[in-house]
Amino acid sequence: MTRLGILLSGRGSNFLAIHAAIANGELLDCEIAIVLSNRAAAPGLAAARELGLETRAIDGKGLSPTDRDQLFIAALRQARVDLVCLAGYMRIISPAFIAAYPNRILNIHPSLLPAFPGLEAQRQALEAGVETAGCTVHFVDEQVDHGAIILQRAVPVLPNDTVETLSARILTEEHLAYPEAIRRILSSKQQK
Ligand code: GRF
Repeated sequence: MTRLGILLSGRGSNFLAIHAAIANGELLDCEIAIVLSNRAAAPGLAAARELGLETRAIDGKGLSPTDRDQLFIAALRQARVDLVCLAGYMRIISPAFIAAYPNRILNIHPSLLPAFPGLEAQRQALEAGVETAGCTVHFVDEQVDHGAIILQRAVPVLPNDTVETLSARILTEEHLAYPEAIRRILSSKQQK
């Protein structure tokens, strides 16, 4: 049984999609061991608590990024986490964190990487005038929104799209993409 550690900063809809896929039996052989947040007030953390999951808020204010990440690493180790899923986690993780979980940290980003890394990816896509947008689940490396791509799902950009309508269309795909990416990783591990 692979133990997942979820890191989030906000709403937590991707976390909830992963949780639902496990609960529905669509994502097998894994469980959510802990949900961590840098923000105690994150709605996603409250949702995790309500679901009876182990949660922790680690603010780390005043600490360097490396020292702060040591607290996250310690919490993940204590929860015996095998695979870390960043799900709307709005902090850049330090090289020490990446080294602690080599090829075992995933992220989801609302663009078809390598296009539009960074903040407001959906706005960037609209401003660039592309016809196709989407989302990417990838392994985390030391560059932001970079690292080997596990899967992508595309959506059309429609003529009257706003940031809100495009984001909502992409988010629907994110909720399918993240569980599917985890499924692929777990099945490739089993074959090894
Ligand atoms: C998603 O769009 C995700 O791709 C990005 O941040 C957003 C998080 O949404 N990294 P949620 O908190 O999972 O609802």
